[in-house]
Amino acid sequence: MITIATPGEMRAWSARRHREGRTIGFVPTMGALHDGHLQLIADAAERSDDVVVSIFVNPLQFDVDADFDAYPRPIDADVAACDTAGVAAVYAPTAAAMYPSGYQTRVVPGALADLMEGPGRPGHFEGVVTVVNKLFGAVQPEVAIFGQKDFQQLRIIERMVADLDIGTEIIGHPIVRDPDGVAQSSRNVRLTTEQRSAAVAVPHSLDAAVDAARRPTTDPVDVVAAAVAVIDAEPMARHEYTTIFDADDLTEVDRFTDRSVGRVRIATAVWFGDVRLIDNRDLFGD
Ligand code: PAJ
Repeated sequence: MITIATPGEMRAWSARRHREGRTIGFVPTMGALHDGHLQLIADAAERSDDVVVSIFVNPLQFDVDADFDAYPRPIDADVAACDTAGVAAVYAPTAAAMYPSGYQTRVVPGALADLMEGPGRPGHFEGVVTVVNKLFGAVQPEVAIFGQKDFQQLRIIERMVADLDIGTEIIGHPIVRDPDGVAQSSRNVRLTTEQRSAAVAVPHSLDAAVDAARRPTTDPVDVVAAAVAVIDAEPMARHEYTTIFDADDLTEVDRFTDRSVGRVRIATAVWFGDVRLIDNRDLFGD
């Protein structure tokens, strides 16, 4: 496995692989790799000849400096995990290589970025689409894998790729969970033992929503209320939002219809101390 630190070397490596007739599968990450990331890598390996994993904690997408500073960066363990997973190349550029002095271009996402996570995290999705665009430019992948854990991010990337004629195939991988149901996240390591135990309230709240949605007379407001009640019953949890949305265009759903099955998801954001966890689920499937 090779580790690459600059966009120029990354592009040259990919060009060589392409000349040899090989396809590249790409998994962009911010490191602190967990089993969720490793499953995305396994998915990429099934769809391509060579897997590239990027590890870059992107300053452009953090709206809170403290969150950027506190983000875990176990780079040696991450590189070892990629090696074990059969990754061909780790692309780990420095911030100076990605955003040298004089850097000024940004990619501006559209209306999808104004919904759900958008209002509470100004500039976040602009930072995400800008860095993913740059990573795609360096890696030149045929296929890239993103997790449904960040469902809005997945949809915004799909939109960007279509709008900017990028030509990379985007795959959405299902959410990978710990045995107790908590979605795996790089931020979970920042939870205390007590907060980690309390975090089961997040998947439990989505379970309660699924149960409520199966009752024939319930409206989305009742389903949200059932989910929020579970969060509110957990003293260590601070609820930020819960929303029921259309899986295609991310707009809020205020009425269930026959067409809701398979198209409607519920998403939530919950704080435990200064750690913010997000989760989502298909309301009538999964
Ligand atoms: P990061 O949070 O490291 O996540 C990298 C990829 O792993 C994303 O596509 C994310 O959705 C996926 N992922 C994380 N936890 C997952 C889980 N439990 N199950 C399934 N997939 C999971 O998302 C980012 O980094 C950044 O925004 C990035 C796209 C790299 C741009 O900087």
